[in-house]
Amino acid sequence: MKTIFILNGPNLNLLGTREPAVYGSQTLADVELLCNQACASHGFKLEFRQSNHEGQLVDWIHEAGQFQASGALAGVVLNAGAYTHTSVALHDAIKGTGITLIELHISNVFAREAFRHHSYISPVAKAVMCGFGVSGYAMAIAGLAVMNAGV
Ligand code: DQA
Repeated sequence: MKTIFILNGPNLNLLGTREPAVYGSQTLADVELLCNQACASHGFKLEFRQSNHEGQLVDWIHEAGQFQASGALAGVVLNAGAYTHTSVALHDAIKGTGITLIELHISNVFAREAFRHHSYISPVAKAVMCGFGVSGYAMAIAGLAVMNAGV
C-alpha cells in the first residue's frame, strides 16, 4: 500500500477560527478525518502533518523523497500556506527530490491580494488546485489515485 503525505504549512493549525469567511469553519482535525476517509477509499496510507516552520516542511519533503525512491510514495499534497509565495527552499526541495506533488490552497488565491498570485511551488508541482475549500484535499487525493493508476 502506497503512502500519501499531506503537508500543511504555517497558520493552518488555526483552521476553524482563522478567517472563517475565507477558510471555512472546519478545523485541521476535521480535514485530517476527511483525508483519512479519502485515503482509505482509494487504498492509500496517510501521513498528515502540519508545521509553522519552513525547515520542518523541507525535512518532510526529503522524507517523502525517500518514500518515492523506494516506490512507496503515491504523492504529496502540499498546502504551504504563506510559504507558497516566499519559499525558494521549498521549491528547491521539491525539485531536488523529484516527488510527485500537488499544490493545494483552500481559498482561490487568484481572487485575493496580488502578493498571493505568485507561487514558488507551482513550477515544480504536478498539479495545482485552489478555491474548493477543504473539499480540495479529498479531490487532490482522488487526483493522485488517477495519476497512480496511470490514467
Ligand atoms: C492558503 C493561501 C495562502 O495565500 C495563505 O497564506 C494561507 C492559506 C490557502 O489554503 O488558501 O495560509 O494556502
